[in-house]
Amino acid sequence: MVVRVSFRRGRATGAHRQIESEAYKAAKAHGRPILREFSHCPTPANLLERVGNLVGLVSGAAITDNPNIGVLQLGDGRVMCLTETTKGSTLIDPESLETVGRFSYTDRIGGMYMVQSAHPIVTKSEFLTVLPDLARPGHLVVKMEAGSNERKVIGRVDCRGGPTPGWLHSFAVTENYVVVPEMPLRYSSTSLLKSELAPFYVFDWLPVSGSYMHVMCKSTGKTVASVEVPPFMAFHFINAYEEEGEIIVDCCEHNGDPAIIETLVLHRLRSFRDKDVLPNARVGRFRIPLDGSPYGELETALDPEEHGRGIDMCRINPARLGKKYRYAYACGARRPCNFPNMLSKIDLVEKKAKNWHEEGVVPSEPFFVARPGATDEDDGVVISIVSSDDGEGYALVLDAATFEEIGRVRFPYGLPYGMHGCWIPAKN
Ligand SMILES: [Fe+2]
Repeated sequence: MVVRVSFRRGRATGAHRQIESEAYKAAKAHGRPILREFSHCPTPANLLERVGNLVGLVSGAAITDNPNIGVLQLGDGRVMCLTETTKGSTLIDPESLETVGRFSYTDRIGGMYMVQSAHPIVTKSEFLTVLPDLARPGHLVVKMEAGSNERKVIGRVDCRGGPTPGWLHSFAVTENYVVVPEMPLRYSSTSLLKSELAPFYVFDWLPVSGSYMHVMCKSTGKTVASVEVPPFMAFHFINAYEEEGEIIVDCCEHNGDPAIIETLVLHRLRSFRDKDVLPNARVGRFRIPLDGSPYGELETALDPEEHGRGIDMCRINPARLGKKYRYAYACGARRPCNFPNMLSKIDLVEKKAKNWHEEGVVPSEPFFVARPGATDEDDGVVISIVSSDDGEGYALVLDAATFEEIGRVRFPYGLPYGMHGCWIPAKN
């Protein structure tokens, strides 16, 4: 489902609409999920179905196209909802929220490149993303010019660990480089081949396989650095920039522990509402040397107590993408909790956080919208869709500088937890 809040002349209007994916239509027709989702795998009733599932996985027919991770505006104005399967890229009409149809890539990049990062880097001029290679462990970095449906290959990095590529939910860019993470949470070949869930859905946690960060030059496609780093577990990269012979890369890092994935299972969220069971997380800062050194560093950017030892679903001022920056906005934790329940503004210079919290609510990813004509990095507002435990919800608008509430727009009905959103400026 996609939810929209429109702000016009001091008033706000809400709307929502179901995205008509094939996965949704099949689930509706059968009364249960039919395709393979992130945390759901249809159980084959017999050997024939098992073989059918395997064929469906290889062809892509059995995997979901449910684009429930994010929504973004392409450089040419089209609006795309997406998930980690390439086939899930779906265009919607931003006015009516109607499903326009599947975004068809016109290139020949297919085969085992059936998954993609859920977080492409999109600017006015291009769409840049990373595709894991499930057949020959590696990652393909591709870009697509605004207005085009054709992805072009920038380059490829081979994975240094194995036997499969590391999960890559998001990645980072600097002005000149693409940073490709290789986490020890790797696609599970057993899960893929046997059509069953691995300990972490479709992933295995293999710290002995090593953790790496690769740096690719955007213009040549050459890998200019590939370093081993301490084990890390990150869904979301915050930003990256170049600085005196090294690259700084920040992410929401779960202390090298994949337990966060189990924590987010629905029955656990329902069972441990008042327990302090949310695993600790921090702002992890990688330092990647560009002088050929074999190792990179991973440090904690600020005391995690500043944001309640929880941090994820991060955003920055998009004008600072790939550049030195100071502020990040994310979901933090007011303990005790079993889920991120706070909004945090992280100051990476002062190493402090400002926090917003209200009892009994869960805010979704806070995204930053600059004031027109702004020059200060935090001159603007932060918007988050908030679900409350009384069954209602509201869009919250905070002053990005003070992190104090400017206003809220109540919905007359409950809102499902929002994943990732975007701001689309009005045409006039
Ligand atoms: Fe995400």
